[in-house]
Amino acid sequence: MSNLNIQIHETAFVTSTFRSLNEDLSRDMYAQLWDNSRTAIWVEKYLDQVCSEEVSAHCLRNRFFLEEIERLKPEVLINFGSGFSMYPFLLNDDMIHIEIDKEEVVSYKQEMVKEFQKEGKLPERNIHFIGVDFSQDYVDALLEKLILLKGNKSSFVLIEGVLFFLSRKDTEKLFEFFFRLQEKGDYIGSASFQNELKSSKAFEKLFDFCNREMVKTEASDWQTIEDEFYKENTSYDLINHQDYFSLSKKHNNLIKLEKELILNENFYILKKIV
Ligand SMILES: C[S@@+](CC[C@H](N)C(=O)[O-])C[C@H]1O[C@@H](n2cnc3c(N)ncnc32)[C@H](O)[C@@H]1O
Repeated sequence: MSNLNIQIHETAFVTSTFRSLNEDLSRDMYAQLWDNSRTAIWVEKYLDQVCSEEVSAHCLRNRFFLEEIERLKPEVLINFGSGFSMYPFLLNDDMIHIEIDKEEVVSYKQEMVKEFQKEGKLPERNIHFIGVDFSQDYVDALLEKLILLKGNKSSFVLIEGVLFFLSRKDTEKLFEFFFRLQEKGDYIGSASFQNELKSSKAFEKLFDFCNREMVKTEASDWQTIEDEFYKENTSYDLINHQDYFSLSKKHNNLIKLEKELILNENFYILKKIV
């Protein structure tokens, strides 16, 4: 496998480019700051070989989580696998942001954000960047850091575009971590593909594309997650569940492809009840 393959952190550039391609739908006017020529080639290839509706799908995902966070008004937003998403700049300036991703992603993002702010392209925000690999041993050290930063403030944990790349073991470990971190009344926002999608033409194309073009991750397989994973969590209630189709309806997004060809991602909001 050559270094011409997509590295895991580059998927974050791809996601941001999708968001920048329809700012009205994503409500993200800052995503274009991450556009670059290498990613543009991948995006074109991906839209052609996997699914041309991925721009709308990613814009709607951003729109959904942005509006849920605006509505639920947590004091702290903790974004796991934050990539180059721009929520801190799209939300009110009184929120505290903690962005967690692989070290190379957060250090690059931190440096570039500083640069963009110096150039007047981004407003000032209260952001803490933490480098962590979710497939490594991170629990105690990260918990200590987050508890110090968060105190007893209310929190929203966001994990979007990440679980596909993780193993089930690492996913369960993360949700157990969220439980230890959060208080009753706090929220989790999560995005994942349902197991049933695996038998669709769209997933077959995604699977082929990832196996051909991407550097392999820790996950033995590309992960999908059954609804029961969220519904049967005894510490959190599933209070909102959407997908590409329901959000398209809400925001008048015209669906052009037949269902079988769409990578229908599902979006879940959980509320801690204990
Ligand atoms: C497709 S991007 C999504 C980024 C962001 N959540 C968004 O929606 O714009 C996936 C992100 O997950 C991060 N990621 C994947 N595996 C990870 C791991 N084992 N540890 C930490 N971060 C990881 C990548 O570095 C990347 O930033």
